[in-house]
Amino acid sequence: MKDCILVGVAGGSGSGKTTVANNLVKTFRAEDAVLVEQDAYYRELVNMSFEERATVNFDHPDSIEFELLKEHLISLKNKRAIDRPIYDFTTHSRKEGVIKINPSKIVIVEGILIFAVPEIRELFDMKIFVDTDADEMILRRIERDMNERGRSFASIKNQYLTTVKPMFLEFCESSKRYADIIIPRGGENKIAIDMVVSTLKRYLNQEK
Ligand code: CTP
Repeated sequence: MKDCILVGVAGGSGSGKTTVANNLVKTFRAEDAVLVEQDAYYRELVNMSFEERATVNFDHPDSIEFELLKEHLISLKNKRAIDRPIYDFTTHSRKEGVIKINPSKIVIVEGILIFAVPEIRELFDMKIFVDTDADEMILRRIERDMNERGRSFASIKNQYLTTVKPMFLEFCESSKRYADIIIPRGGENKIAIDMVVSTLKRYLNQEK
């Protein structure tokens, strides 16, 4: 029986991955489940002005430090704590400091590209893809980026058409084929989440 179950939650930007992942984590005792966000691993962009950083393609796998994410997931699997970076979307850069994440029986990882990169994908014991209609995803993204990430509508529209949409089609949506479970409509799909929770609880109970 596995000591640690690694669960990947992928899906497009605004699909509701965070809600699904949080709903899974909060079902378990704090010491039994932790969340690791791919977004925390955006690369540090050195020697670039804010304006230059804002034009980076943040939806391509090269923008993420997947080497570090891989190292961290392997550490958690081997029951070693990690120091997760902290990312600031308003400045497009890492904040000072780290967040310590302790090893846990269930490690949930969420991000748009975690199934698109073979070295990360192959680490998961269970792969979930959150499948939400494109119009709902973009509406959520507009609201979130304006309220929480300090963006204007014009910048959201430009970024969506130039990078977010084409990269979603090339890397994210095409990685759906690797999923074990596809959850339609996102975070509020209670039946789907309950089914995943039951399976994970079975793993935990069998371990005793
Ligand atoms: N991104 C950005 N600026 C940065 C870094 C990332 O605009 N400096 C955007 C990328 O364009 C990418 C998105 O952040 O599309 C990834 O975050 P997203 O998946 O939207 O956030 P979550 O809250 O994890 O997703 P969900 O809405 O599905 O819960």
